[in-house]
Amino acid sequence: MNTIHRLLCRSGLWRRVLEEKMMPWVLDGEDMGTDLLEIGPGPGLTTDILRRRVPRLTAIEIDSRLAASLAARLDGGARVVRGDATAMPFRAGSFSAVISLTMLHHVPSVELQDKLFAEAWRVLRRGGRFVASDSRKSFTMTLLHAGGTMVLVDPETVGGRLERAGFREVRVECREHAFKVAAVR
Ligand SMILES: C[S@@+](CC[C@H](N)C(=O)[O-])C[C@H]1O[C@@H](n2cnc3c(N)ncnc32)[C@H](O)[C@@H]1O
Repeated sequence: MNTIHRLLCRSGLWRRVLEEKMMPWVLDGEDMGTDLLEIGPGPGLTTDILRRRVPRLTAIEIDSRLAASLAARLDGGARVVRGDATAMPFRAGSFSAVISLTMLHHVPSVELQDKLFAEAWRVLRRGGRFVASDSRKSFTMTLLHAGGTMVLVDPETVGGRLERAGFREVRVECREHAFKVAAVR
């Protein structure tokens, strides 16, 4: 992530967008159960909202500094694990739901994104939900990712990719700047 992107991810502006627009839309109608896994929490603005919704929250973050600072800030309020969501250190069937928010485009290839989908399927219980949201192509996204990774997920093809990973009942919803996908394991 470049500096502007890093600052944006921890800003009051992003917190307001999450609180007022994005999270109400993404979470609407989604039953997360009791054991939620968040993939890619970054500084944890999404984690702050999710931990109010479920009794047990685990977050897996690949960046060791972000993982350590989030764990310190939450101080036991959620379990934070430093790890790679394309090869997760969790037993099969550990979670009632898995969520990823504005992080899939940071996974550097379609193949690795598909591994992440397969891992989400593996760590979910039967009937558990996978919910993801990510940004769509825009000039702002290109600027924010200058010099960094940006492999945008195509909302037209994400449904088929999730089905190939084993998911069913896939639903995709698009807005101007983002899409949401939900599926059942
Ligand atoms: C743009 S941030 C999103 C943070 C937060 N979800 C939000 O919406 O504010 C994406 C995060 O995903 C993390 N990430 C990227 N690839 C990952 C992987 N393979 N496993 C776990 N986390 C990953 C990055 O380190 C970064 O902190």
